[in-house]
Amino acid sequence: MTFLVTGAAGFIGYHLSERLLSRGERVIGIDNVNDYYSPKLKRDRIADLKRRHNGFTFIEQDFADFDGLKTALASHRVERIAHLGAQAGVRYSLTNPHAYVHSNLVGHLNLMEYARHSDSVEHLVYASSSSVYGKNEKLPFSVEDRVDQPISLYAATKKADELMSETYSHLYRLPQTGLRFFTVYGPWGRPDMAMWLFTDAILKGEPIKVFNSGDMRRDFTYVDDIVSGIVACLDNPPPDDGSVKAGGSVTPHRIYNIGNHRSEELMHMIAVLEKAVGKTAVKQFEPMQPGDVKDTFADISAIERDLGFHPTTSIEEGIPRFVDWFRTYHGV
Ligand SMILES: NC(=O)c1ccc[n+]([C@@H]2O[C@H](COP(=O)([O-])OP(=O)(O)OC[C@H]3O[C@@H](n4cnc5c(N)ncnc54)[C@H](O)[C@@H]3O)[C@@H](O)[C@H]2O)c1
Repeated sequence: MTFLVTGAAGFIGYHLSERLLSRGERVIGIDNVNDYYSPKLKRDRIADLKRRHNGFTFIEQDFADFDGLKTALASHRVERIAHLGAQAGVRYSLTNPHAYVHSNLVGHLNLMEYARHSDSVEHLVYASSSSVYGKNEKLPFSVEDRVDQPISLYAATKKADELMSETYSHLYRLPQTGLRFFTVYGPWGRPDMAMWLFTDAILKGEPIKVFNSGDMRRDFTYVDDIVSGIVACLDNPPPDDGSVKAGGSVTPHRIYNIGNHRSEELMHMIAVLEKAVGKTAVKQFEPMQPGDVKDTFADISAIERDLGFHPTTSIEEGIPRFVDWFRTYHGV
């Protein structure tokens, strides 16, 4: 089968491509390798996929450019799409809002337009985010909760993607699955996220910034568990049978949380990281950041029920794996 993975040079896109290629699928990866964070890291991920898999084709392309996207895919017969490419990051959306509209709104529309005009695409799976829950105080967060009060533009674009997808599934019967990811971490991770920033600082003996004085909780999800959930979704398009799907739609569109279903204290995560690195962190306590959410906790019962998804990796197992990779990659 031929899969299109957008954001293939990104953290999760790299791991998903790796899993699909190892299973013997053909993967077309698209990414514009932008400089939101190190393009070298993105190119290293692509080089790693190319080195180990013949079935991988990489196209460097901005998917917000619709003509460019169509031309790039003209000679391919795509059957399933994993649309993971996006402008990620909550804090960056305060200073660079246009990047979010470009990649997350125009880009999302383009992938849906490509899919609906294609005669081969059977399912579009796309990345949403736990940030759509905003200040929701009911824990754990459920896909049945109302999420109409986003507190960052990033979250607003992800919620808008879900709404646009609902419309396309209604109008064009395009099977789609939206996945709300919860703080993903692991090897080949993202340099803008706490796990990477903390590891880097602890190794260098520099202070780490601990927001809201450490009074925060996150549902940290190991990347292999996330990928298992994405693959289970890709393999099971929602039926167009009028039944009520996860998230409430009666179109062939469902929405799942993919998290670890464990909300970890930030200070506990730091303690596990200190143990893995073998050094104590210098902690600099800071106030809450604008746009940030205090607690996240995923109710994953919908994807467990429908697709048998069970995360298996605790932070006690996953964090040392990330630290090992980090040390090897940087030679430190
Ligand atoms: N990592 C997490 O904890 C997390 C949590 C919630 C949601 N998500 C979502 O999951 C998806 C994947 O996240 P990630 O952590 O792998 O992020 P990432 O930044 O590592 O990967 C995204 C990739 O998309 C590419 N991209 C961005 N705009 C593009 C454009 N216009 N055209 C082509 N390529 C473009 C980037 O170059 C990047 O390589 C994103 O949609 C993100 O919003 C991630």
